[in-house]
Amino acid sequence: MAQILPSIFGANILSLQDELRFLEEENTEILHVDLMDGTFVNNIAFGPNQISAMKKASKMTFDVHMMLANPERHIDDVINTGAEMISVHYESTPHVHFILQKIKKAGRKAGVVINPGTPESVLEYLLDDIDYILIMTINPGQPGQTFIEKSLEKIKKTREMIAGRHIQIEVDGGVNLEIAKKVQEAGADLIVVGGALFNDNPKASYQALKSVMH
Ligand code: DX5
Ligand code: ZN
Repeated sequence: MAQILPSIFGANILSLQDELRFLEEENTEILHVDLMDGTFVNNIAFGPNQISAMKKASKMTFDVHMMLANPERHIDDVINTGAEMISVHYESTPHVHFILQKIKKAGRKAGVVINPGTPESVLEYLLDDIDYILIMTINPGQPGQTFIEKSLEKIKKTREMIAGRHIQIEVDGGVNLEIAKKVQEAGADLIVVGGALFNDNPKASYQALKSVMH
């Protein structure tokens, strides 16, 4: 069954503790946490200290989406947050395999993220080293963007490429209720939702999103 992963980047930063509590009351298993450095992407968001603090205040599994340049400099700090799932952008480093090895050695689930302009075929030689592939369905950095329809084809091709392997497909960016259904049909297992969940009625939106998962 596919799962909705709320993205904490879309929540109200002024009431983060209440937002975490709400998500736990809704039985959220996995929380998506964006880490942005202002260089790899224009925006700046949650660093390792903030992620550690959130992790201590929560029982959810943390899925940290690293959007930063030179991830090899920061990977130890990210591992030390306690996050159970950590993903690295293919485009962010020539040392993607090295980072994946570090994540796996620390006993965490390792993911590789690909931007909309990156073909899934670049992952061919990494398939034995990863637990999940995160397909960006917007260009990373800014919330509130429109889902890129071409991603549906990429999800299907990725599903074919991974064949029988135990690799999950995650999607992130511009997902609302209608798109959640479409990406699920295309083969996504983990579906990140930010803005469309934390709108003016998060409870109703979250429940509607969960109700279409199968
Ligand atoms: C954007 C982040 C996303 C973001 C998605 O760069 O990686 O996780 O929170 O937000 P929505 O769902 O609003 O596009
Ligand atoms: Zn993200």
